[in-house]
Amino acid sequence: MKLKHIISSKQFEKSFIRSIFEKADQIKSGRYNKNILAGRIMATLFYEPSTRTRFSFESAMQRLGGSVISTENAYQFSSAAKGETIEDTIRIVSSYSDVIVLRHDTLGASQVAASLSKVPVINAGDGNGEHPTQALLDLYTIFSKFKTPDFTVIMIGDLLNGRTIHSLSYLLSLYPKIKIIFVSPKALAIPKTLKSHLIATKIDFTETEDFDFALKKADVIYQTRIQKERFKTKNDYKKYFGRFIIDESTLQKIKPRSIIMHPLPRINEIAPSVDSDPRALYFQQAANGVYIRMALLLYLLGPKNQ
Ligand code: CP
Repeated sequence: MKLKHIISSKQFEKSFIRSIFEKADQIKSGRYNKNILAGRIMATLFYEPSTRTRFSFESAMQRLGGSVISTENAYQFSSAAKGETIEDTIRIVSSYSDVIVLRHDTLGASQVAASLSKVPVINAGDGNGEHPTQALLDLYTIFSKFKTPDFTVIMIGDLLNGRTIHSLSYLLSLYPKIKIIFVSPKALAIPKTLKSHLIATKIDFTETEDFDFALKKADVIYQTRIQKERFKTKNDYKKYFGRFIIDESTLQKIKPRSIIMHPLPRINEIAPSVDSDPRALYFQQAANGVYIRMALLLYLLGPKNQ
């Protein structure tokens, strides 16, 4: 079944993922029509800050010949500042564009937008919910190094609020031989809904606070930021900030063929001295966002069989 909206990683099947990755490979090698989306308009509607997601979507659309209408900080720079609801904004913007890329601070906002929009809606992050296009570019990056889905991924940090963690976990659960180790303080462990899903899909997963134990087992090290914006008080945030750091001493403990990833932005959880290690893939990971998002825009807006 063809997807109209991209809201959750739970929508993706292996065949869809394969076709997006094949298209991304083709685009990465320069084999694509640079005007194929001429005349099509993408609206990027961002109620929360972004560097990678917004710019890579906008770059993707323009590389395919399409154009972009955009607001960053929509609470300030759109009529949300005058009190307009997200529902009304979506009704309006969907009559001005062919696809809407939405980032919002409220869990489920993209689902609401999709129910009202005349055009496809892409969830570019909904509060502490999901970030499905990030998960696709994460998996694409992982598969560029590990061709067979039989490896151990460790995910570290604020697993309760980290939407990239949630979406990537749902995606990994499609591959039964992949093992996941979640490393976090107990208070920031994965949400119950995700845990239930992993149990139901019989994925081999462990939850621990023992960072060194997990590092030794890891093929893929997926580090994340403590999500400051999701905490009620600064003191709550400070309790967890700086708990799990990857630095030069970590590099001595991990497997020689492991990879280090991060959805970014990073604060202090990966030391800059790690950047030059060949296992550090996070900048390549971010660059892959353009190819994956081009492939997704072609899927949603391109002519058949592109
Ligand atoms: N990875 C990610 O979502 O980054 P931005 O917040 O900069 O878009």
